[in-house]
Order: sequence, then C-alpha cells, then structure tokens
Amino acid sequence: MTIRAVVFDAYGTLFDVYSIGALADKLYPGQGVAISVIWRDKQIEYTRLITLSDPHGPSGSKHYQSFWDITRLSLQYALARLGLVQTATHEHALMAQYAQLAAFPENLGVLKTLKHQGITTAILSNGSPEMLQAAVAHAGMADLLNHVLSVDSVRLFKTSPESYGLVQQHIPVPTQDILFVSSNAWDALGATWFGFQTLWINRQNLPPETLGPAPTYVGTQLGRVLEIVQP
Ligand code: LAC
Repeated sequence: MTIRAVVFDAYGTLFDVYSIGALADKLYPGQGVAISVIWRDKQIEYTRLITLSDPHGPSGSKHYQSFWDITRLSLQYALARLGLVQTATHEHALMAQYAQLAAFPENLGVLKTLKHQGITTAILSNGSPEMLQAAVAHAGMADLLNHVLSVDSVRLFKTSPESYGLVQQHIPVPTQDILFVSSNAWDALGATWFGFQTLWINRQNLPPETLGPAPTYVGTQLGRVLEIVQP
C-alpha cells in the first residue's frame, strides 16, 4: 500500500528515554528502574484520567494540564510511592533530562532517507510544544520533520480520536496512506483503531497486546520504516 506520510510518536520511539532511568539510578541508587516504571505508568495513567473524565469539552478536557506538568506530578508520585526523599535539585535534574534526550542511533538516518524520498514526516506526541521543540532541537531533527504536532492544541491526550485527528488537519491525505510509528503498543493500537497503517517498534522485546487488532507491521528498530515505505 502507498505510504505518503510517516508520523512518529516521540518518547521511546524517536527519543531514547533510557537516560532518565540511568540518572534516576544515580540520584537514587538501586531505584532507577522502579522510579522510571512507576513514573511512566503514572504519567500515562494521568493523561487517560484527564481525557476520559471530560472527553467532549468545548475546548478539550477541562481537567487538562500540560504533559510537562503531568510528568512532574507523576515523578513526585513515583518518589513518594517508593518512600524516597524528594529534593528540588533532584526533581529539576530529572525533569531537565526530558529536554535533552538523545535520539536512537538509527533515527537521523531514517529521517534523512525519508526526506530524500519526498515523504512527509511528523511527530504526534502527548508532549507539550516546549518539551518537543527542545527535544527535536537537541536531537538535530528540526530540519528533518515537516510537522511537530502536540496534543496540546486539542487538550485531549492519546488515544482520543481528536489527538490522532490532528495529523489529518496538517497532512490532508487519507488515514490509510499514513504510517504511524510508535514503540508504545497501546499507542500503535489506538492509531490502528483510528485507521492509520501502524508500525509497532518493539524495542524491549515485549509480548504483543492481547487486545486486538494487531499493528499492521512490527519491528525492533526504526530502520524497519524504510523496508515498509517504498520510494
Ligand atoms: C508520546 C508518548 C506517549 O510521545 O510517548 O506521545
């Protein structure tokens, strides 16, 4: 099938969040993995709570808070849950890490090839615009992406149809001509339900979701995109 645009999730897909766990482990020895797992789970739980509790508000959810704020709140929760001491310095260091994430090594090459092939590229992320701009600039991707889309403009997080619908507002081609790429299986499923072709990048060798349908494609790293998109 023809693919005219490739849309990427941000955290874990384009940007390597490993460094956050590593820093957490340095600040709280032996707790890095636990902190990063609880932190991420709570972060995503809050996005769903906010979205589901007012999905039809005239301008998004009245409970909306930016992903940056949610990220901070969920970090505070993770530390409290583990009984760890919270200091402003540690919180600042962990939050700052989000703004300077490295890209996975193969990513720049994939984006450059897509640009060369004339394929439209975009990010669609829960991340707030400021977080995304900082991460994109730090990873050297600014010239390689046609659109950096944040759900902030609809104030509803993924997997709401309004969030995926942002893609069509900016890239007016049929959903089935768009490849949506995420390392989050739940995000790949939401995007599949929305109507996109999907690629789940299973970097962590996780089992597939038992809730279907399966993503259109599965890979272990971003280079898989170039096998799917034929020039
Ligand atoms: C994002 C998160 C879900 O970038 O990874 O939207």
